[in-house]
Amino acid sequence: MTAGAVLRALRIIAVLAGAVLRLALTRSRADTIASTMPRLGPTFLKAAQLLSTRVDLLPAAVCRGLAHVHDDLPPIPVAAVLPRLPRALLDSVDGDIVPAAAGSIACVYRAKLVDGRVVAIKVRRPGVAVVIARDLVLVTALARLAERFRLLGGMPVVAVVAELGAAIRQQLDFVAEVVALRALRTNLGAMPDVCVPEVFGEHCTADVIVMEHLPLPRGRTGGDAARQATVAALRAVYQMLFLDGFVHCDLHPGNLYALPDGRAVIVDAGFCRRLTDSARHAFATFFYRMSRGDGAACADVVLATARASASADPEGFRARMIRLIDGGTRGAVGEFELVPFAVELFAMQREHGFSADPEFVFPVLSLIVLEGTLRQTCPEVDFQLEALPFVLRGLMT
Ligand SMILES: Nc1ncnc2c1ncn2[C@@H]1O[C@H](COP(=O)(O)OP(=O)(O)O)[C@@H](O)[C@H]1O
Ligand SMILES: [Mg+2]
Repeated sequence: MTAGAVLRALRIIAVLAGAVLRLALTRSRADTIASTMPRLGPTFLKAAQLLSTRVDLLPAAVCRGLAHVHDDLPPIPVAAVLPRLPRALLDSVDGDIVPAAAGSIACVYRAKLVDGRVVAIKVRRPGVAVVIARDLVLVTALARLAERFRLLGGMPVVAVVAELGAAIRQQLDFVAEVVALRALRTNLGAMPDVCVPEVFGEHCTADVIVMEHLPLPRGRTGGDAARQATVAALRAVYQMLFLDGFVHCDLHPGNLYALPDGRAVIVDAGFCRRLTDSARHAFATFFYRMSRGDGAACADVVLATARASASADPEGFRARMIRLIDGGTRGAVGEFELVPFAVELFAMQREHGFSADPEFVFPVLSLIVLEGTLRQTCPEVDFQLEALPFVLRGLMT
């Protein structure tokens, strides 16, 4: 290990130890988590965001704290990104390149091209891949220690870190993101209320994505337009889950916008998942059976996909699933709460000796991310009724 890596490891341990101390002394988990993560840089910011929906792994209160972690970082000045932009793009720009947004991994700029197109230029932060690779090596070593000495109870820390690491590395891969953006745009192309920016491949590189700039509203769009856009986004997610099997898992408010005309804009395909056909089918079957109030059939779907441990108790699990579904899953978003439902669904699996198939976890997470927005803008929408046409078509394909 180099001296730099040792210093970085010590800093990570010191900041995390300080946070643990604060957690022990104060009651405000949310504040402590939200203020600690940004101090540790992009790896931890991204990990916090990814963990904020993981109700299958963490208590809901911790998830809420992680959801407050924002990555409002200073943008990289335009002068510093110019050398990273391809010559042909620079030659095509008419006027100034203007900073538009800054995240932990990338910054986005706006520019007009000589042919009249207005483009969004997403540029990977210089050096961020190296910082993240180094941090992931260190965090993996710390995770091994934590698991060995059971510092976080029985949590499979090494596996969780490996999974997070893979998701963070995926967000660094701009070539994959271009492929994902194009797939989403094609898959959602028949939905007139949903826009995904067009990618201009001739100007993209391994660090730069050039795409159609969409006029995102600065503040929150309200009223009917927001409601229409939110329902459009929900239908888009159902299309992804039940028909396309290619899912944007990160539709938080920074990546989902309502235009004043009621259309929904989806950006940032950095965290997408492809489902196998059998997982997509199983998920559609689960949803269908849930909407019919058939807990036993829901249990069958989960039991066919979850991994069983030696002490697995399928009958106990089945009985609880029947109670959960009977407990009332019908109704508007206001009545059916996805987060407590998902918490119970995952807890039930653990307590009866099963571990959820990741293919089943990610679809649920994509809906959890959207649920926050749904609750705010249109609590009257019927989650399950909206799903039904997509579910029925998904079951037939
Ligand atoms: N095509 C686009 N048109 C307009 N604004 C965009 C576009 N793509 C991204 N943005 C803005 O830039 C921000 C950061 O881009 P995003 O792709 O989400 O990067 P990150 O991976 O850092 O979250 C978005 O939240 C959005 O506000
Ligand atoms: Mg984003």
